[in-house]
This record gives sequence, C-alpha cells and structure tokens, in this order.
Amino acid sequence: MSDTVKIQYNGKEYEYPIVDSVIGDKGININKLRDDTGLITLDIGYKNTGATKSKITYLDGDLGQLYYRGYPIEQIAEKSTFTEVMYLLLEGELPKKDQLLQFEADIKKNSLVSEEMKQILKSFPRSAHPMGVLSTLTSALTAFNPHAVNVKSERDLYNAYTMLLAKFPVLCAWTYRLKLGLPLNYSNNSLDYPHNFYQMMFRKPTEELEVDEVVVNAIDKLLILHADHEQNCSASTVRMVGSAHTGLFASISAGVSALWGPLHGGANQAVIEMLEMIQKDGGDLQKWIDKAKSKDDDFRLMGFGHRVYRNFDPRAKVIKKVADDLFEKLGIQDETLEIAKKLEEVALNDPYFIEKKLYPNVDFYSGIIYRVLGIPTEMFTVMFALGRLPGWIAQWKEMRMSGEPINRPRQIYVGNPQRDYVHINDR
Ligand code: CMC
Repeated sequence: MSDTVKIQYNGKEYEYPIVDSVIGDKGININKLRDDTGLITLDIGYKNTGATKSKITYLDGDLGQLYYRGYPIEQIAEKSTFTEVMYLLLEGELPKKDQLLQFEADIKKNSLVSEEMKQILKSFPRSAHPMGVLSTLTSALTAFNPHAVNVKSERDLYNAYTMLLAKFPVLCAWTYRLKLGLPLNYSNNSLDYPHNFYQMMFRKPTEELEVDEVVVNAIDKLLILHADHEQNCSASTVRMVGSAHTGLFASISAGVSALWGPLHGGANQAVIEMLEMIQKDGGDLQKWIDKAKSKDDDFRLMGFGHRVYRNFDPRAKVIKKVADDLFEKLGIQDETLEIAKKLEEVALNDPYFIEKKLYPNVDFYSGIIYRVLGIPTEMFTVMFALGRLPGWIAQWKEMRMSGEPINRPRQIYVGNPQRDYVHINDR
C-alpha cells in the first residue's frame, strides 16, 4: 500500500506523505500544499481535518469505542476514580499509590479561593446562567494568579494545573449556591474529591449534610465519563486560544463558553427541557420523532447524534446503567426516564435514525441523573465542565509542550472584489 497521496493539478503531480496513527484514522500531511500548488483545502466544520497529533484520548466512532490514554472507558468507569483519571489524563500513566496521594495533597493545598472572587460572583443577578458565571470566574482567576506559566518548566505547569483543579470545583459549587441564595462555602480538605464537591454543593449552614454514598458514587462516575473526548469543540477552542500563548485560565474560560452551546455540552440541559416538553404535550413520541425528521422543522432530537460516533456512544451505555442502578437503589420511579427510554426505542427503530446512524449520546441520560441528584437544570452543563476540566488542561498542556504554532486557518474568500469607497451622501 502506498504511503503517499498524489494530487494532480494544472498538469503537474504533487506527492504528500501519509501520517501514521497507532489506531484509527491516518492522515495526509498537506503542510506544503499551498506552497506547492497555491491551493488550500476547504473542510467546513472540520469533518475531515485532523487539527493535531494527540496521545490523550482515542475514539472510534464506527465501533463506539473510547479510550483514555489507551484504557477503555468501560474499565475506567468501573474501576477508577475521577481523581485517578485526572492524573492519568494529565500525566499519561495511572498513578502509583504515593503519586496519587501527592497529587491529591497538591490539589487540596490550593483549594482556597480568594475572598475578592466572591465580590465578582455577587455582582451577578441570581437569574444569570451558571455557565456564563463560571466562564467569567475562571477567567477572573488569572487576575488573582497573574504569574504566567513557563511551559518549559514541568513544575510550573504542574503548579498551575493543580491550582486550577483545586479552585474550579469551588467556582462550580458557587455558581449553584448563587442560584439558590445559599452562603458561599469552602472546600473541606479532609474529604476526597467527590465527597468534598458534594458538600460544597449541598451543605447548608443550618444542618449536617447526610451523605448518600450511592449519589456521591454516581457523581464520580459522571465526572469520569466526561473527562475527555479528544478534539471536540471546547477542547479545540482551548487549544486554539492557548496556541496564541494565552494563559491556562483564560484558555479554559474560553472552553467553558464553547461547551455552553446546546449542540455541545448544553445538550444535557436541552434534553431535559425536551423530555419535559414532550411530557407536558401529552407524550406523543411519534409526533416529536416526526418533527425531528422534518426538513421544515428546526427541532432536533436532543441527546441524539454525534459528529464522530456512528454507533452507540459508549459513555451513553455506561450512563444508562448508572441511571438504572441509581434509581433502583434510591427506589425512584422517574417518569422522565421512562419517556427517555421509550423515545430511544422509537428512534432506534426508525429508518431515518437508522440510516443516518443517529444514536443516543452522553447527554441523553446524564441530565436525568443530575435531576435526581437535586441539581437544577441550568447547572447540568456546569457538571459537564467540571468533568471535562482535566481533559481541557491535558489538551492545553500537550499543545503547549509540543510547541505547536499559533492555530490560524485560512479561508476561501467569496465576498466583493476590490471596490472604491462611496461617500455617505452618494450611496
Ligand atoms: N435529530 C434529528 N436529526 C439529526 C440529529 C438529531 N439529533 N442529529 C443529526 N441529524 C441529522 C441532520 O439533520 C443531518 O441530516 P441531513 O444529512 O439530511 O442534512 C444528518 O443527521 C447529519 O447531521 P449533522 O448535523 O450534519 O451532523 P454533525 O456531525 O454536524 O452534528 C451534532 C452532530 C451532535 C451537532 C448533531 O447530531 C446534533 O445536533 N445533535 C443534537 C444535539 C446533541 O445532542 N449534542 C450533544 C453531542 S454529544 C456531547 C457533546 O459533544 O458535548
């Protein structure tokens, strides 16, 4: 098999090398294409464009496989913890016991957030969407920690990201407490990551918080399942912004904004809103399936379809099981879950969804779990962001350490050709 690709243009032939992968798509290295031919490539939405080489996460959209640093998500979700997964994504290997303890200690020692940050938070109205608040607060961290990260120093990088891993959950919890009008509380460094986050979210100053291990375990699993997903919209945003040598916190803040959109992380909120709408409307599933299929209707089945997966999203499979276990252990009958399951069944048997290979994605069931955990709908995407944080940082770190140039795509210009300015009186 040839390891080059030949392009013929204007009577000449040019040859471009194939870039090998360990598994999955190989690429064509077209670095010299424009210099050679004067042509650029056009791939709107980057459906066929590899933006980088990465060692962090692999996903096979046809087989529905997802690996973090080579480990299948099913094994990781069953056997690991979110703290261990953060280490794995950032450092490349599963930690030994002493490494994990050190990592946890380094995160904990950074968990205090400046009191002045509370002033920023309090200037938001309660009606503010938590994702907007989170993006602002993450960016504001830069002002309180202005020391630029020297990416040539592993220590500097490590200090910067353990600081962010420590403060970000506090900010997430604060966006929730702002919504509910609860006093802003602190991290408790005697607790592990999921228990600490749970108490930061839910603890009221008036009473002891009863911890439900089933719930804490479900939160940890959801965080693991969201931890990274290779070059998705928000990760690419983080890399793009960081490629201008913008600092870590500001780059992550941009990632939070990208995640907010309903076609990306905002879909978990959109799914619940959709299921509630269907329920209120009388539960006629076929009507909504038909709307999703209609070219004259903007409605899409939220939580269905994926740019890469043309098969079941493996995260959706794990999440569905987490939901079933959780509901069984808590003895809850949830009507929304029942509607979701029926909707999934109808869609999976419908020729439109079969032909277009549209399957449930990670967001289809996650919102249902968050709701049972007592998390308001507008906070769902914040939960996604909390899980995705180590992935974003790992992507940023990889990009900066590999010395990638500034990300700067080109364009095919289709606007007016040159023309002369016309004075306002003469237009
Ligand atoms: N409902 C109805 N039709 C759909 C859906 C859907 N959810 N998703 C895709 N299609 C159709 C689409 O109309 C198009 O049809 P046609 O070829 O006739 O024009 C075809 O399937 C291909 O869709 P696309 O929009 O070209 O595919 P894409 O790769 O650009 O978009 C997507 C992927 C995830 C944005 C899209 O499937 C979608 O909007 N899904 C609903 C939102 C959602 O659940 N997003 C969460 C994604 S997973 C988590 C994350 O990324 O954060």
